[in-house]
Amino acid sequence: MSEAISARRLRPRRSCLAVPGSNPKMIDKAKGLPADQVFLDLEDACAPLAKPGARKTIVAALNAGGWGDKTRVVRVNDLSTEWTYRDVVEVVEGAGADLDCIMLPKVQRADQVAWLDMTLTQIEKTMGYLVGRIGIEAQIEAAKGLIEVDAIAAASPRMETIVFGPADFMASINMKTLVVGEQPPGYDTGDAYHYILMRILMAARANDLQAIDGPYLQIKDVDGFRRIADRSAALGYDGKWVLHPGQIDAANQTYSPSQDDYDHAENIIDAYQWYTSEAGGRRGAAMLGDEMIDEASRKMARVVVGKGRAAGLVRTDKWTPPED
Ligand code: GLV
Ligand code: MG
Repeated sequence: MSEAISARRLRPRRSCLAVPGSNPKMIDKAKGLPADQVFLDLEDACAPLAKPGARKTIVAALNAGGWGDKTRVVRVNDLSTEWTYRDVVEVVEGAGADLDCIMLPKVQRADQVAWLDMTLTQIEKTMGYLVGRIGIEAQIEAAKGLIEVDAIAAASPRMETIVFGPADFMASINMKTLVVGEQPPGYDTGDAYHYILMRILMAARANDLQAIDGPYLQIKDVDGFRRIADRSAALGYDGKWVLHPGQIDAANQTYSPSQDDYDHAENIIDAYQWYTSEAGGRRGAAMLGDEMIDEASRKMARVVVGKGRAAGLVRTDKWTPPED
């Protein structure tokens, strides 16, 4: 795996803040907020008449810097519109060195991702940027995209995440509700989103990508946000969109392991390493307190440790080998 690709796989994306690309004030404010990722939107949060000006606003904001270690993303318009190619050319030529990913909405087919990959390569070569550094986030927002999600996830080595777009998706399948993320009235069994979330997660993990949950539109209802976020976090999702600064802390907490789980995971790794060693008796399965641990426990612990370290957690409990 190239250096450019392996570096971007580690990006935290617990909170992905949506900011209209046409609003310089909101863009400026976003720089100081504790979101892991900011995406500057040229699509649905940007009125058609404002799109040409927004491209310039975005280029200037990216070039001006001040983003700290945030992941910097621009969402372009989808490929059924007349805007996409100009969005990509103008933004990447103007700010390709100060940009981490392009998000492509409403992806329906793998060749749409391939188009973006080739276009990025051409711009990178023309401008003298490192070829392959800019990643791709693909939004799944319609039945067709979900059916094709495996091919979409595998369509380019630039792919970093699959993002669920619940609002457009609900419209695409005629789901009988207007409240994004909440269960449709009348569906009184299970979770109406379970299949979609799992389908996306499988395609993402099978291709070593992150899976990101979409927006919750009731921005004042932070408890509601947490309730919906808890579900995708429990399945294994890496993060969720946030539409308002008030949702950021909730997302960062929900998609980070708890301190107890983080400490426990670090201890599993240390204990398993010791028990499998000569000094620990070369055991493949061992007891850690009341719990039996083996190679599968180590793999689960590694995931939690990775997320905990990325979230900046610091260990508060350290396992030590038993004395003879
Ligand atoms: C986001 O783009 C959505 O449609 O939910
Ligand atoms: Mg959408």
